Amino acid sequence: MSSGAVPAAGVESSDLWARVFAALYDPLLWMGEKAGMGARRRNLLSRARGRTVELGSGTGLNLGYYPDDLDELILTEPEPAMRTQLARRLRGSRRRAPVLDASAEQLPFEDGTVDTVVSTLVLCTVDDPDPVLREIGRVLRPGGQLLFLEHVRSESPRLSYWQDRLAGPWRRFAEGCHCNRATLELIRASGLKLEDVQEMPWRAMPPIVRPLITGAATKGEI
Ligand SMILES: C[S@@+](CC[C@H](N)C(=O)[O-])C[C@H]1O[C@@H](n2cnc3c(N)ncnc32)[C@H](O)[C@@H]1O
Repeated sequence: MSSGAVPAAGVESSDLWARVFAALYDPLLWMGEKAGMGARRRNLLSRARGRTVELGSGTGLNLGYYPDDLDELILTEPEPAMRTQLARRLRGSRRRAPVLDASAEQLPFEDGTVDTVVSTLVLCTVDDPDPVLREIGRVLRPGGQLLFLEHVRSESPRLSYWQDRLAGPWRRFAEGCHCNRATLELIRASGLKLEDVQEMPWRAMPPIVRPLITGAATKGEI
């Protein structure tokens, strides 16, 4: 470091884990993608249209599933280690899309200028989903849609008990992921209008992240 400053040990190790987690992300999800998650992504993203912004793109697992006729696809990802993996996937893909270093809490778009926002496994990870949902509502055009695919808090008391018990260690392991978050209720409370919500299991993944929801939430026309 040119300043001669030495980062705190905790910072150093969390940077290291962020890099390890980004490198392990695809192998960790591989079985789940083959067991149905890939098909869920394909179904959801076939509904994308117009100017489309993806939040927290990670390693780019959605990249191959977008329709060819989008007006524009913009990928956002605030974590440098994930952006490195994303750039690698983009280089091996025929898809061209800019990658912005942007957090979902502060998107670099004017009000009402986006047709589709995509969030897959991101609303579980952001620190506080409420400001993120407000930001999504801000950038969407009236009639624009949030397409989501998220793992959520279980409705089974037994499983939600374990989600609560394991939330701390899981968050440290999975780079901030909250396995016990009731994301569907948060989307409903945001004022976006829920459509076509489906619930299903995330097969071949640990039980605490197995309950999945997918669907669209639309911003009302003015
Ligand atoms: C579990 S990964 C999901 C990656 C990808 N969307 C997918 O479906 O595989 C969560 C992603 O959200 C990103 N993330 C974390 N905090 C974020 C924030 N505040 N805004 C946007 N993305 C964030 C992480 O860096 C990570 O890439």
